[in-house]
Amino acid sequence: MPKTVVQTLKNGPYLVNGEIEIKDAEGNIIPCKKDANALCRCGGSAGKPFCDGAHVKANFKA
Ligand code: FES
Repeated sequence: MPKTVVQTLKNGPYLVNGEIEIKDAEGNIIPCKKDANALCRCGGSAGKPFCDGAHVKANFKA
């Protein structure tokens, strides 16, 4: 069983279940939740890399 699972949600974010570490382009660690994080897949989030629900308003289709 993998430690971390990435699931694509229909017309929504990547849901990452499991402990992860996220770094920005400069290598700085971005604080995230310990067990589950929703990462933006539509490009419209104001809080990238996390999903903020903007995909709904943008009517994002994967
Ligand atoms: S996937 Fe939700 S804001 Fe981009």
